[in-house]
Amino acid sequence: MGKKQLTVFGYLIAIICIVNFISCSKESTTSSNPPVTPPVTPPVTPPVTPPDTNCKTFTITQSSIASQPCGSSGSIQVTATGSNQFMFKLNSGGTFQSSGNFANVGPGNYTVFVKDSAGCQQSVSVTVSTSAAGPLFTNVKNLLAASCVSCHNAGDPNGGNNWNDQCQIISQGLDIQSQVNQNLMPEGGPPLSTSQKAIINNWISAGGGYSN
Ligand code: HEC
Repeated sequence: MGKKQLTVFGYLIAIICIVNFISCSKESTTSSNPPVTPPVTPPVTPPVTPPDTNCKTFTITQSSIASQPCGSSGSIQVTATGSNQFMFKLNSGGTFQSSGNFANVGPGNYTVFVKDSAGCQQSVSVTVSTSAAGPLFTNVKNLLAASCVSCHNAGDPNGGNNWNDQCQIISQGLDIQSQVNQNLMPEGGPPLSTSQKAIINNWISAGGGYSN
């Protein structure tokens, strides 16, 4: 290798080195890690449900008819104004229907939900009270309280019958009538008088129900 060749070779090496350096330094600038900044957690803002200004305010009216205590003979009537296509539901477990009338409801407290065509919902509380007992049934209850409950109460329900429970009197009305008219009850006597038997017979003849 001549001197000139060596020199050229030297230049070549130098150029390679420079190119490499540039590329290296370039690489190092482009890929150099930026200063580590800790990830910023944005402040948690609770989701804000905007008030549904599309919902109209309903005017709800309600009424109810009392129920007898031993069954569901009451009813509820709910109407609404202030929007359109109202649907009504009895308690949260109910099913929406177009009528606001609910039949066969027992005594107690209820919530009727009212929904309009926009799906907006409001509710109203309704109480179904217990209806008054009929006069013939009241006479029977009083007779049994005087002549029979000593052997037919919650603590001593002979024959499985507690005549302090008015619902049991109603469900066993025909048996009561039969036992009394055959002088089988009160057990051990004395039998009920004719007028006392008539109290039971009149009640059964009238229907033997709570409202009779
Ligand atoms: C001194 C206790 C005593 C009195 C008072 C009494 N009972 Fe009873 N009763 C019993 C006993 C005990 C039984 C169950 C055994 C039986 O059936 O004889 C019974 C059973 C009955 C039964 C079920 C009978 C059947 O076999 O289906 C009826 C109904 C009944 N009583 C009605 C009455 C009525 C109504 C009176 C009141 C007018 C009355 N009892 C008063 C003791 C009494």
